[in-house]
Amino acid sequence: MVPEAQPVVVEAQGAKTFAVPQALFDKHPGKPHLAFEEYRAKYKESIENPTQFWGDLARELLHWDIPFQTVKNGGFETGDVSWFMEGRLNACYNAVDRHAFAEPNGPAVIYEADEPSDGRIITYSELLREVCKLAYTLKEMGIKKGDTVAIYMPMIPEAIVAFLAVVRIGAIHTVVFAGFSSESLRDRVQDAKSKVVITADEGKRGGKNIATKKIVDAALEECPDVKNVIVYRRTGNEVPMKEGRDVWWHDELSKYPAYCPPELMASEDPLFLLYTSGSTGKPKGVMHTTGGYLVGAAATGKYVFDLHPGDKMGTAGDVGWITGHTYCVYAPLLLGVATLVFEGTPAYPNFSRYWEIIAKHKLTHFYCAPTALRLLKRAGDHHIKGDLSSLRILGSVGEPIAEEVWRWYHEKVGREECHILDTYWQTETGSHVITPIGGCTPTKPGSASLPFFGIEPAIVDPVTGRELVGNDVEGVLVIKQPWPSMARTVWGSHQRYMDTYFNVYKGCYFTGDSAARDYEGYYWIRGRVDDVVNVSAHRLSTAEIEAALIQHPAVAESAVVGVADELTGQTVNAFVALKDAYKNTPEMRKELTMQVRKSIGPFAAPKAVYIVDDLPKTRSGKIMRRILRKILSGEEDQLGDISTLSNPSVVEHIINVVHET
Ligand code: WT7
Repeated sequence: MVPEAQPVVVEAQGAKTFAVPQALFDKHPGKPHLAFEEYRAKYKESIENPTQFWGDLARELLHWDIPFQTVKNGGFETGDVSWFMEGRLNACYNAVDRHAFAEPNGPAVIYEADEPSDGRIITYSELLREVCKLAYTLKEMGIKKGDTVAIYMPMIPEAIVAFLAVVRIGAIHTVVFAGFSSESLRDRVQDAKSKVVITADEGKRGGKNIATKKIVDAALEECPDVKNVIVYRRTGNEVPMKEGRDVWWHDELSKYPAYCPPELMASEDPLFLLYTSGSTGKPKGVMHTTGGYLVGAAATGKYVFDLHPGDKMGTAGDVGWITGHTYCVYAPLLLGVATLVFEGTPAYPNFSRYWEIIAKHKLTHFYCAPTALRLLKRAGDHHIKGDLSSLRILGSVGEPIAEEVWRWYHEKVGREECHILDTYWQTETGSHVITPIGGCTPTKPGSASLPFFGIEPAIVDPVTGRELVGNDVEGVLVIKQPWPSMARTVWGSHQRYMDTYFNVYKGCYFTGDSAARDYEGYYWIRGRVDDVVNVSAHRLSTAEIEAALIQHPAVAESAVVGVADELTGQTVNAFVALKDAYKNTPEMRKELTMQVRKSIGPFAAPKAVYIVDDLPKTRSGKIMRRILRKILSGEEDQLGDISTLSNPSVVEHIINVVHET
């Protein structure tokens, strides 16, 4: 039965509430998995009886070769959260085999190449064969259960093949976004102790070639433990191949049979590592496990995205980030629907590219970051072309979406026929934690709305650490009980995991974000409270950028701050004090920008480098970044009492430098 149409707009305390558009129900292949009352009831059950709730869902959504008996164990304080312990399963079997057996010709991957004419569609049975051959190749190279394999690839179907081949044989993938520099890749390969790297000769993005293999070669100069590099031929341009180490994907795969049995894994065996930035300089290898992560991915794919058989999911994000892991790879494939792999950019060959892809493949779902929407909104509505009527769900992820961008997405892209989902989550949460449920939750532009099943959020006072109960409160966002897809450790440093997430507010998972809960219990994510900045939905740590700058011989000291930006959300700005022998020249500022590009990657490059005589410091030597932030946002008249600084006169000097640059 189609749920009754609800009033379209309800005005309440300033924020408008949007009902799910009637048009969504009209074009739905059946009906959404949940109505709002059902969400409320199920949510209550998931919090009061998580064992029953997750046990049932895990059995429903995944194939377990050996069933689990115990649903959950451990807790935040002891750092031993674990789920579905006795269960045995294989991630690749769940994502590929069972669909390849049931519907071999069903589309699995919709590949849209950088050039619109170069794409293709890969069926589930084709995907299974390719995955098996690569799995065989890895086994022959000596990769065993528990080994880590690094993946540094462009957005091509073979990246997904690589993910799945690795987990098929029980190995752990550690995917490094191909926009990271060779130094970042090196650090991640070393930290994860990867023995094999899977890559491509070159990438193609926005009409330009990217020297992927060369970056790998530079990274591996300092990674003696890497025994082999598997190179997929993407462009066919000449690249150096190291004798005895590097092999071509097509040469190797042609040697092996197209079926290779999956390895049986324990639920808590690691599935992957993904490095992410925190408040300190060194990125953390966040570890996710097999059973719990897959249950989270499948559950949110089913309920949040309301995926149904025959749907086509279009996640625009790169597989090098968590959004790509969960919603480009695992969630759609676990549910047997087709997923888009888009190699290019929203601006190539022109600003209509996203919309042309949606129209061409009749995508039912589209999921991207507000930063792309801001770019496209600015480019002009005339670029939105083609028949977009296949769309039911439009998702947003990675950063707050401003009300006017939300409305633009809703009105211009969705033509008021789609449900807009502002999904809040993190690399560490594995899957959505605060989000509307597709086809179900009434939404308010700018609010991620309500918690997903099993997520018990709380707002705490940042100073006292006390929980702020009731509605209409604002503070730091924490989560009060474990959920299946949460990260289990930081690779090689469980203590750091405990200190970062569980020792800040005892008994809770600390998100690092602040949030408000409004009078109706809706959550509004305000932004990070730590030193993490969000540039074009990329998560960066100011400490990491400072660590990159200090590597330059001219740098005595630096302070990096994030400042709000209309297009990219935030920008990176660096204040640098040089050593005596060095001078402030345009070349020097350029060199320092290059230093960050080289050390982390182009996407982390500061928008501006300000060379100053000194940084504002307290008497105990602490750099006052707050003052730098205020100066950059033009709030120099609101600096507060600066007389307590050890060097108050530097403030005026910095203001002058900022004005002159
Ligand atoms: C941080 C996590 C989760 C996939 C991509 C980012 C911010 C994420 C939202 C949202 C406001 C958001 C938070 C969070 N963030 N989604 N819907 N509204 N902020 O994953 O790189 O681990 O970054 O992104 O600050 O802590 P990530």
